[in-house]
Amino acid sequence: MQRFGIDIGGTGMKAAPVDVATGALTTDRIRVETPQPATPDRVAAAAAGLVEAHGWHGPVGICMPSVVMHGVVRSAANIDDSWIGVDADGLFSDAIGARAHVVNDADAAGQAETTWGAGTGRSGVVLCLTFGTGIGSGLFVDGVLVPNTEFGHVELDGADAEVLAAARVRKALNLSWAEWGDRVNRYLHHIAFVVSPDLIILGGGASKRAHKWIDRIDVDCDVEIAALQNDAGIAGAALHAPDA
Ligand code: BGC
Repeated sequence: MQRFGIDIGGTGMKAAPVDVATGALTTDRIRVETPQPATPDRVAAAAAGLVEAHGWHGPVGICMPSVVMHGVVRSAANIDDSWIGVDADGLFSDAIGARAHVVNDADAAGQAETTWGAGTGRSGVVLCLTFGTGIGSGLFVDGVLVPNTEFGHVELDGADAEVLAAARVRKALNLSWAEWGDRVNRYLHHIAFVVSPDLIILGGGASKRAHKWIDRIDVDCDVEIAALQNDAGIAGAALHAPDA
């Protein structure tokens, strides 16, 4: 069975149909730039464009960098603040002309990893973290998602953790992979102390280059590199597409 997923980020929006038995994209994904400013109406129109470009007719699952409670946006990271309070399920459903359901992007990526990727078959507490523009978190207990954990924003050394250890910080401060890996390791020790995970899955853009920094990580639980990487958001979003 196929479902359609859209992954909305601060700079790009990616979409594809997904085989929900395997998590594989069934055609190449299509990517467009996120409209700037990334206001609700403009992003919804771009999402409708992606659905049309794929010739998709039917329900759609969407993820975005926000706390999303029951389809309503409660925070906005790297998208316009006017998203806060918006009924995103309703907005996208109207724009696309089919039922849509919206969830947090790291929750979606984590769902993909626990369903088809690095966390498949794992019970206990599994924490999926995405390192990109920000740090996203998806927390699973025996496979059940605890939504909107936002562990990228815990305080570390008096600052918001994602300001210290998101992937974009490495580039912005021109850190070596080892220097950045040490920051990630410190963050992982802190978050592991908070939630005592059995497994941490490291995802997001930086997971593609994990061989350059994974040797800096010595946190005391299982650690896996995300298997679906760039496609995890799309695939996980597709899992949330409502029934037709
Ligand atoms: C946001 C999260 C999001 C993460 C990754 C953070 O800044 O607060 O909602 O999951 O970035 O995009």
